[in-house]
Amino acid sequence: MSFEEDIRAAADAVRSCEEITIISHIDADGISSESILAQALLRQGIQITTKFVRQLDPLTLDQIPDDSSLKIFSDLGSGQQQMLIEKGLDPSRTIIIDHHVSQPAETGSDPFIEVNCLNHGHEKMSAAGVSYLLARELDTINTDLAKLAIIGNVGDMMDREHLCLIGPAREILRDGITCKAVELWEHDLNIYGISTRPLPQSLAYSDDMEIPGVSRDPDGAGKFLERIGIIPLQPNRWPVWEDLSFEQKQQVCSAVIEQMMAHGKDTTRLFADHYLFPDEDKHQASLRNASEFATMLNSCGRWQRPELGGAICRGDRVAAYREAEHMLRNHRTKIREVMLFITDTGVTELSHMLYIHVGGRFPDTIVGIGAGMALSRLNPEKPILIMCEDSLDPSMTKVSMRTRPDVVSRGVDLQQALSQACEGHENCTGGGHRIAAGAFIPRDHERAFIEDVNRILAQQYAQ
Ligand code: C5P
Repeated sequence: MSFEEDIRAAADAVRSCEEITIISHIDADGISSESILAQALLRQGIQITTKFVRQLDPLTLDQIPDDSSLKIFSDLGSGQQQMLIEKGLDPSRTIIIDHHVSQPAETGSDPFIEVNCLNHGHEKMSAAGVSYLLARELDTINTDLAKLAIIGNVGDMMDREHLCLIGPAREILRDGITCKAVELWEHDLNIYGISTRPLPQSLAYSDDMEIPGVSRDPDGAGKFLERIGIIPLQPNRWPVWEDLSFEQKQQVCSAVIEQMMAHGKDTTRLFADHYLFPDEDKHQASLRNASEFATMLNSCGRWQRPELGGAICRGDRVAAYREAEHMLRNHRTKIREVMLFITDTGVTELSHMLYIHVGGRFPDTIVGIGAGMALSRLNPEKPILIMCEDSLDPSMTKVSMRTRPDVVSRGVDLQQALSQACEGHENCTGGGHRIAAGAFIPRDHERAFIEDVNRILAQQYAQ
């Protein structure tokens, strides 16, 4: 079946339902995906119950109600179909909306109703994108949910390799622009925090470009800006990128290009698309663009409050927003702590990857994000593998891996590396994407697992 036919089949399956249980992932993509599905289904008059989970394993599956409601798994499920069968889920009453690598259940059972963009070659779209296409198939009134799909896509870094959304995710962007919920800033400066971060910080901590005298040096970045006439609004209060005029932005871009070229730096990743939300109030600046909105959702979901992120997605800008602001502050502080811990402690450098174990110091839901941020301060040529205690099961270890787009383009695939390493060990589950992947492994397999991953990466580099 084609992707469109899969979407239509899922839409047909939900239309006749009265009650649906959505089981979704706790990250920005899972939260925005759930929000799209729940709002679209409610508009159809369907009753919704949601369960957010950290991952699908036998423990979390036990929390799913054993009732007659149709089950929708979003942002997870494709890789766990055998487990779903073993848990007794009825394939004809279960829809999987996903973008992770699909592993159909062993023969002998009917296939699940699965809508997975990856099965159709669309690598740069997330579960929120797939959910949106289903919502739009149910009713074109749901095009107002395109904004949430863009947040999910960006939250899952679907724009990072090409520095813009492509394929079906770009079509969704067009829907968002048409209904005036989204503004596209094309080929803009490739920095994070355009609505909330003081500009020197944004420039200093852009992972994608090496600007001599600016990168990793906010004071140097401030001086660099002052030299071209961009100054603080008040002492120590710098403008954010969004505040600059067109001419000021041009000035900054020209100066950055000049500085990089003078030092022979690669400027190919200097520009990226930004997705702005003009309907969001400037006083709630964390929601003014897709990547920062996604960070806010992550700060709720990864700290056990996914429903708070869900309320933000549904438009709560009062009580939920106030609480989410606290979550965001805490999230930023903790991720910075993870990053500093990694850079201060130092990593073990193996032939084809960097590795560190952070024990029980940080929750397993955020170590991957911290490792990704630490990478540009370490040796970004090699992927980083971080291990920590599994917060739910002390006999298990959580593994997260991160790398950079240029390493992926050289043939490295972290999803494949972790999945293949898991095959060699009992009770291991792993998956994800080429650029970011994770696994849960028994604690006493750590050493052997690391060696296996390093060996698999060596094979990937050699191909
Ligand atoms: O947990 P972490 O942030 O490191 O996960 C990175 C990616 O790997 C996510 O897309 C997550 O869904 C995926 N993952 C997975 N299976 C696991 C752990 C993580 O597919 N056991």
